Amino acid sequence: MYTPPPIARERLPALLAAMPKAELHIHIEGSLEPEMIFALAQRNGLTLPYADVEALRRAYAFSDLQSFLDIYYAGASVLLHEQDFYDMARAYLARAAMDNVAHAEIFFDPQTHTARGVSMETVINGLHRACQDAQAELGISSSLILCFLRHLSEEDAFATLEHAQPFLGRFIGVGLDSSEVGHPPEKFARVFARCRELGLHLVAHAGEEGPPEYIWSALDVLKVERIDHGVQALRDAALVRRLASERIALTVCPLSNLKLCVFPDLAQHNLKRLLDAGLAATVNSDDPAYFGGYINQNFAQVFAAVPELTARDAWQLAHNSFAASFAPEARKRAWQDRLAETFAAHA
Ligand code: ADE
Ligand code: ZN
Repeated sequence: MYTPPPIARERLPALLAAMPKAELHIHIEGSLEPEMIFALAQRNGLTLPYADVEALRRAYAFSDLQSFLDIYYAGASVLLHEQDFYDMARAYLARAAMDNVAHAEIFFDPQTHTARGVSMETVINGLHRACQDAQAELGISSSLILCFLRHLSEEDAFATLEHAQPFLGRFIGVGLDSSEVGHPPEKFARVFARCRELGLHLVAHAGEEGPPEYIWSALDVLKVERIDHGVQALRDAALVRRLASERIALTVCPLSNLKLCVFPDLAQHNLKRLLDAGLAATVNSDDPAYFGGYINQNFAQVFAAVPELTARDAWQLAHNSFAASFAPEARKRAWQDRLAETFAAHA
């Protein structure tokens, strides 16, 4: 087992920024910056209920997940044409490449768009073309994960899957997001079983605001391979043992947890405790345009707020991000070798 070299604490911020990493929890609609929301509204002839970019940004004061989701879905309503989806994803991938993201697995919420009359083809083709161009032009690898909105019905999820089936080669898996409490994973047991038969990878948001029981059922009923968020897992010792022994990754999003009041401040975030419990945690941005930072800001701010986090933890988090990705094993190893080289260069 590789052990990273000792790194002086003052070199940690530069290392966090420079180290190659995978981003496994990013909602592409959550990368829509206020400036782009206004630009797309103008391009599409839509009027927003905010006077300007600053007024919109001022509305980004959230008390919990639902208060965020209401604004997030309203922001996404400016996306109408394939080029809109392309521009959004291309901008995110350029920004992620600046943060040394080598690979991104990108969530998208088709029901937010199909409910407004935008076709599945428009959504998926725009996003997919951006992923292809970003690989060719920036060298960043990416794939797409279709998320079902859990506040909608099982029937709606099945209809969404049916609409997406002609594009099965353009996304690698499915996830489950939106309002967690009151919408347990069991609601989507049959949809996820069908997705499994189709050979798709499976992930789900669980234990963001919801209880450890939702993490158990995401694992046992939905049979997911990763848990998105999962920060509530520490409330259940048996669950921690299960997650640790199976190396189930948690895609943790520190600034999201701060902005949605899951933790009162970043100093109280449990990232260090998750790692110390042997859990395969990763660091991600969730909805960077809304939560005040892309992935490197998430690393920088949580490491600054929790001084117990070490260079070894930084290496572990980045290593976990590649290990937990759905990329081919040879590519994971190549990225992990680059990670070790970056650490050697900062020793
Ligand atoms: N959709 C976008 N961001 C989300 C989050 N943090 N939790 C649940 N659904 C989401
Ligand atoms: Zn999320």
